Amino acid sequence: MIRRLFASSIAVAAVCCAGVAFAQDAATIEKGKAVYDAAKPACKACHNEKKAPLDKYGATGTAEDAKAWLRTPKEMFEKTGKKGMMPAYSEKKMSDEDLDALAQYLVSLK
Ligand code: HEC
Repeated sequence: MIRRLFASSIAVAAVCCAGVAFAQDAATIEKGKAVYDAAKPACKACHNEKKAPLDKYGATGTAEDAKAWLRTPKEMFEKTGKKGMMPAYSEKKMSDEDLDALAQYLVSLK
């Protein structure tokens, strides 16, 4: 009886905390979208339906790569062989926390 009670409270804890983690993810993604919308120069000036769309980024892209594109685009153009120009978003323009949230948002796009 006690053992069963113990087991079921573990199950409840697991469900509860998975729920919390999910809510945190959702909040981070929402924050990342706000960072995306507010970024200057605007991401949308270069990333939209017509050119370099990011709306499926998460299908193949990783958070690590997204962060590398934002902090060191020149290196990423060299590394991937892609062509064009993208400004670097340094820590002055975008904090590490905002960068993390933005990367989570981009990865959520599938
Ligand atoms: C001046 C234009 C410009 C701006 C502004 C810009 N980018 Fe880019 N970005 C590019 C170009 C060009 C590429 C290479 C695209 C390609 O060839 O697929 C790129 C690539 C990327 C990639 C990699 C795409 C992939 O398919 O792997 C990500 C992620 C990205 N940009 C995110 C952003 C975000 C987020 C912002 C705003 C904070 C932003 N970019 C602002 C021009 C820009």
